[in-house]
Amino acid sequence: MPRLQLERLLHSQGFGSRKECRVLIRRGRVAIAGETVDDPFREIEADGLVFAVDGEDWIWQAKAYLMLNKPAGYECSHQPKHHASVYALLPPPLNGRGVQSLGRLDEDTTGLLLFSDDGQFIHAISSGKRKVPKIYRVTAKHAVDDGQIAALLAGVQLADEPAPLAAAGCERVGEREILLTVNEGRYHQVKRMVAAAGNRVEALCRVAVGGLALPADLAPGKWRWLDADDLDRLRSPAAAS
Ligand code: URA
Repeated sequence: MPRLQLERLLHSQGFGSRKECRVLIRRGRVAIAGETVDDPFREIEADGLVFAVDGEDWIWQAKAYLMLNKPAGYECSHQPKHHASVYALLPPPLNGRGVQSLGRLDEDTTGLLLFSDDGQFIHAISSGKRKVPKIYRVTAKHAVDDGQIAALLAGVQLADEPAPLAAAGCERVGEREILLTVNEGRYHQVKRMVAAAGNRVEALCRVAVGGLALPADLAPGKWRWLDADDLDRLRSPAAAS
């Protein structure tokens, strides 16, 4: 059970340098259980702690694990070129503690995007070796026919790839809609696979990573913490959606 001085505790949660956190506390902007704590050196039990900064509640997290429902029009980059950054959708303390997205979605792709500041976790989930399945709802320009589905499942050859890439799953859910599961995370992979199969992606939404599905009640642009069950689901086989 970590006991930390309040100043260090806030610093660990992304609220600024230790000096900035000390100022925040001394100015009476930090409360615990409804009581303002203005002593930066008060020792606090961090595990399970709920604290408020400027009236907003935070739960102490040793490491940050979160999901965002990415809207279209945002780039997965700290230095976006043409659009806003997905990091602008997260509150400052999360950026302050250095969360990074697990892989990237294109600017026009929507849906489930995960973030963490746990380097080992980021590597484990995003590394190609782990083969974590990602499910995309693809809206195609033309009706998706059986031949295209068969081609996606059998494997399509993409330029710059040594061997054909096969979808791990492909289910038609509408005349122009499929749920496509891929285990890799190559550049524009879904768009290029669908094009190679003879169609074209008009809209792309990631609906699941591993067994973790995008919650129906998480509005575009909103984020939430992942709990222990979410983390288990992430490591389990692909979610049916
Ligand atoms: N495949 C794509 O083509 N784009 C994405 O954003 C994700 C997967």
